Amino acid sequence: MRVHGNDYRTIWPDDARRRVWIIDQTCLPHAFRIVALDTWQAVDAAIRTMQVRGAPLIGAAGAYGVALAANADPSDEAITAAGRALASARPTAINLRWAVARMERRLAPLPAPDRAAAAWREAAAIADEDVAINRAIGTHGKTLIEAVGRRTRRAVQVLTHCNAGWLATVDRGTALAPIYAAHDAGIPLHVWVDETRPRNQGASLTAWELQQHGVDFTVIADNAGGHLMQHGRVDLAIVGCDRVTAHGDVCNKIGTYLKALAAHDNGVPFYVALPSPTIDWTIADGVREIPIEERGADEVTHITGRDADGALRRVLLTPEGAPAANYGFDVTPARLVTALVTERGIVPATAPDIRAMLGPGNADDRNAPTTPNSHSR
Ligand code: MRU
Repeated sequence: MRVHGNDYRTIWPDDARRRVWIIDQTCLPHAFRIVALDTWQAVDAAIRTMQVRGAPLIGAAGAYGVALAANADPSDEAITAAGRALASARPTAINLRWAVARMERRLAPLPAPDRAAAAWREAAAIADEDVAINRAIGTHGKTLIEAVGRRTRRAVQVLTHCNAGWLATVDRGTALAPIYAAHDAGIPLHVWVDETRPRNQGASLTAWELQQHGVDFTVIADNAGGHLMQHGRVDLAIVGCDRVTAHGDVCNKIGTYLKALAAHDNGVPFYVALPSPTIDWTIADGVREIPIEERGADEVTHITGRDADGALRRVLLTPEGAPAANYGFDVTPARLVTALVTERGIVPATAPDIRAMLGPGNADDRNAPTTPNSHSR
């Protein structure tokens, strides 16, 4: 993505000094700041505080965290301890655990002196693969937008939730990749951007990156989507995800489920974009088995914004001392999902279809299930 005339990824290594740069997403949209992380503990903190966020990006960050750990101390004990901490930095997105496990598998057979260089290369490979995957998701997803445009002969109206764009990945995004691909191909479109309380990833991040790319959009309150769908003002919804079960249940930012229900009731296609490392082959029932992150209540009771003088201010929204709960994600059952948009193509959200397209022998074996999945529904 181009920012201020320069091409950026959301994370990139400084190989010579063995550190990693990130864009600090807690400063957006009001300031564009890049930050260097030179220890695995700094990466761990950046993931926990959401300086980096989005399932694929925290996977890549976790990989660089392991590389920094191997650089500081390549012993089994040190790498395992760092890996365990990093993998638990955020519990819902499976990509983080997947990336840390892949790093550990790569390093375990190597003699300690070879580990740091190998770790640095493997983390870079994970980041590069994410970019390639997202380009492919964009190519496949673009066909969905194109088809609506051909039929309606007007700008295609797309609704998205949270931020599953460039900022949530290493580059291009997942849910926003088809939007960028369609926009770049000259297909007229407009995006309804859910603000996505409580952290407002839609209002602050999706709006910012669509604006940088010149895509037409409107930010809406989270509760507006159903109304727009009832009035025929949404052609399709497309969201990202933090974990998808082998049966096609989709875990994504809190509020996604309500949008899927509204889409179902109004006959609006509801698509989910995902890279194959987001599939958790070990889980059958998404609603009961996926751990849902609960964050601090202050993210609900307070909000930060820029005042008329340009100063950032954090203000209280609720009565002083009001109890608040902050569930980060929810699960949309597969029956509400029209299809999954993956790097391999568009696939119905059913166990046989997912396995046929992305399972063993069809997908990257590093991610495919290692044991037969006996669950059935
Ligand atoms: O809490 P966040 O901001 O990390 O949540 C991000 C999302 O829910 C995204 O939709 C998901 O990670 C997919 S990112 C391509």
